[in-house]
Amino acid sequence: MSSQPRVYVTRPDVDDSGLELLRKSCNVTTWSQTLPVPRDELLRQVKGKDALYCALTDKIDAAVLDAAGTQLKCVATISVGFEHIDVEECKKRGIRVGYTPEVLTDATAELTVALLLATNRRLFEASKQVYNGGWKSWAPMWMCGQGLKNSRVGLYGFGRIGQEIAARIVPFKPAQITYTTRTAKPAEAAKVNARRVDFDEMLCLSDFIVVCCSLTPDTKEVFNASAFEKMKPNCIFINTARGGVVDQNALYDALHSKRILAAGLDVTTPEPLPLDDPLLKLDNIVILPHIGSADIETRKEMSRITARNILAALNGCQMEAEVM
Ligand code: NAP
Ligand code: GLV
Repeated sequence: MSSQPRVYVTRPDVDDSGLELLRKSCNVTTWSQTLPVPRDELLRQVKGKDALYCALTDKIDAAVLDAAGTQLKCVATISVGFEHIDVEECKKRGIRVGYTPEVLTDATAELTVALLLATNRRLFEASKQVYNGGWKSWAPMWMCGQGLKNSRVGLYGFGRIGQEIAARIVPFKPAQITYTTRTAKPAEAAKVNARRVDFDEMLCLSDFIVVCCSLTPDTKEVFNASAFEKMKPNCIFINTARGGVVDQNALYDALHSKRILAAGLDVTTPEPLPLDDPLLKLDNIVILPHIGSADIETRKEMSRITARNILAALNGCQMEAEVM
């Protein structure tokens, strides 16, 4: 049997440049289909591996670590979000966890602004009219949206991605950008003239709410019925963080009853959203299939960083990005 470290990759369709890096010094096995690896297959395949290259669709918990065995040194995810990994359990066992922050910040901020503009200017709803005969003539008040100019934009989360979203919103001339976080970020906020507000103030004052926080027990379903109740009726709600930060039934009620104006989601619960989900029947929502970082160069580099994280962990070196 080869003495090379053994790595299991849960997707065959990550960019090959990352897999090539691994193949130079490791024995690499990949799941064969371009869908998330089934749980029982993951539990079987991880056995005896030294490293696991996973994605945000794989739940990496104690059962997976048990199935792998005590030689497992590293779990590396091709994502910045790591709520799918039981990091505490990994730490207890001395298993290092790698992820891909920074590289996807610009792509995700860009997509967030694209989604915001598609939602506030009703792009998909309007485009549909071109194809279904709804476009009868130019009309003064038809398909009007709510501009960003002079608006109040509230960012829930003001980390790497939140700050880049703010920088991209500034040229649209909002009246005020506010942010809500656990810790104050005065230097970062000064760059975009943002003001820190508490959660309730953000809910009550914002014309746009953009969610860009990490998903943790504290942020789980923080956007619930009570939060939507506090929002202004013209509020546009954008979420490119995780579906889990939203109580989706409450969001449906808020949109259906026109309690808020519209929503744009790149993330949902579950993913993919079932075709009979009530959200898909609404006109005042834009839903994308979790494509925040889906920029070709970004995804290629994410594949390489994940591979380099694994190689560093296997060699006992500093990882490019390690969850601490
Ligand atoms: P980050 O730099 O760690 O920023 C996370 C932000 O969330 C921080 O500002 C943090 O505030 C805030 N936060 C965490 N808990 C909070 C709480 N209880 N209340 C208020 N704010 C809280 O991470 P990032 O790189 O910007 O990425 C953010 C998230 O975006 C990722 O975790 C991932 O889930 C998501 N994402 C989605 C896509 C996509 O494809 N749609 C792509 C990339 C990332 P503090 O600094 O005060 O802790
Ligand atoms: C995408 O959602 C990520 O966390 O990288």
